[in-house]
Amino acid sequence: MTEQTNSSPDDLDAKLDEMLLQLRLPDVAKLQAELDGVSTSEDLAEFERRHLGRESPIATEMRNLGQLPQAQRRDAGRRINDIRQELQARVDERGGLVASQERAGQIAAEGIDVTVDYERLPVGSLHLVHQVIDEVNDIFIGLGYHVADGPEAELAWYNFDALNTPPDHPGRLESDTMYLDYGKPEDEMLLRAHTSPVQARYMETHEPPVYIVAPGRAYRNDTIDASHLPVFFQIEGLAVDEHITFSDLKGTLGEFARQFFAADTEVRMRPHYFPFTEPSAEVDVSCFNCDRGEASCRVCGGTGWLEMLGCGMVDPNVFEAVGYDPAAVTGFAFGMGVERLAMVRHGIDSMRHLIDNDLRFLEQFPG
Ligand code: PHE
Repeated sequence: MTEQTNSSPDDLDAKLDEMLLQLRLPDVAKLQAELDGVSTSEDLAEFERRHLGRESPIATEMRNLGQLPQAQRRDAGRRINDIRQELQARVDERGGLVASQERAGQIAAEGIDVTVDYERLPVGSLHLVHQVIDEVNDIFIGLGYHVADGPEAELAWYNFDALNTPPDHPGRLESDTMYLDYGKPEDEMLLRAHTSPVQARYMETHEPPVYIVAPGRAYRNDTIDASHLPVFFQIEGLAVDEHITFSDLKGTLGEFARQFFAADTEVRMRPHYFPFTEPSAEVDVSCFNCDRGEASCRVCGGTGWLEMLGCGMVDPNVFEAVGYDPAAVTGFAFGMGVERLAMVRHGIDSMRHLIDNDLRFLEQFPG
């Protein structure tokens, strides 16, 4: 008997161990190095085919398992399977990485970069005139006023007659007022020459007390120059209540001037005439730019005062025209030019700037 007979179980085990060692199985750690170099899904598929596919050593050994004696088959099978699973897991992991890298590359190549700078449209802002209107509204809203409005195409009745303006008033002439239609005051249409008709319209439809401001366009037959525009803006004010006095008017306008111009602004009133107020006054505010009238001041021209607006106590005839009892209520009204407010506030030397649409001017008032 030679020793080579496979009769001894020990011999058999030793032989089989040797066979197991001879399994042509890959070294996973070495393959990992190769795997780390794989960067495309095509290369990865190729790698997978070579090492895990039907012709791979692993698959071959798996097929050859049948040649092993029954007793060792299980161990060998488990060992091959462990390696196969380990390698498959690493391939899958690499696959996830490669896929996300490829996706990132694709997005970079094909995507639109929404953060890229482009020709931006400039952001606009409210025109200075409208900024001033908003500001004045806010000040009066703070004093308890409401904002009202009325039509720009107006009946002569509201523009003149209801406001106690006699038929022969020069403002009625075509040289001053722009008419849309001629006729009797009841149906004569014009472009309102001031915002005062809103007073009459508002009182006609509201019971006292009334506290309103009414900003809007007014039209006059004027030629454009440094201080006139045929279309301009006014802000009307009207307060009607019991026991309203001239002091209330002066106090209210003083409060407005201090909020709009400067905290130490003073107000002065000069007698004037308006058909719809009695007494009437023009209001000046102390120059905020100089110390009481320096000769060289470009804002007040050395007078120390800036002409601001017209105002007065509502004429009883106006109350009667709108159906209020002049014995029961009193009130004051005022009207100011918005362009003038803007010019005085910012030292603008010509009204033309406000309509020229020159961006170099407009951009100075971004709001
Ligand atoms: N409406 C007048 C004007 O345009 C201003 C004004 C309004 C005067 C209210 C008195 C009262 O000049």
